[in-house]
Amino acid sequence: LRVLVLNGPNLNMLGKREPEIYGAQTLAEIMQHLTQYADSNNVALTHFQSNSEAELISTIHSAFEQVDFIIINPAAFTHTSVALRDALLSVAIPFVEVHLTNIYQREAFRHHSYFSDVAKGVLCGFGANGYKMALDAILADR
Ligand code: DQA
Repeated sequence: LRVLVLNGPNLNMLGKREPEIYGAQTLAEIMQHLTQYADSNNVALTHFQSNSEAELISTIHSAFEQVDFIIINPAAFTHTSVALRDALLSVAIPFVEVHLTNIYQREAFRHHSYFSDVAKGVLCGFGANGYKMALDAILADR
């Protein structure tokens, strides 16, 4: 099983960025733990973070027929990007949407996602554990 994990803008700042909201772990640490968990479950996991919408879209296009599932935290693009949504639909790769925080407990502008209605499922509010939960959901579903 091939799984691609995508992380959107500002997530490279995890650990430094508003730690009371987003936690103390860095993205590198989160992805390292997730990769170990994937390895032990026979999952070929790759991950990519970008602050650029264009780079995320190109990475999704490259995943066409190369990846079975995508786990994506689109970060702020969640609330803005029709283009990223369309990219996921264009490759027809099922995806799980993850957010560290419960976006429904936060500002009203975070309550709408351009991804949730076309996602396989959504996990939000469980911190870094959400990525692992997403992988578990994919494993249970395969
Ligand atoms: C986020 C929530 C978004 O609203 C925010 O813009 C982020 C991170 C989360 O993981 O909780 O950058 O996707």
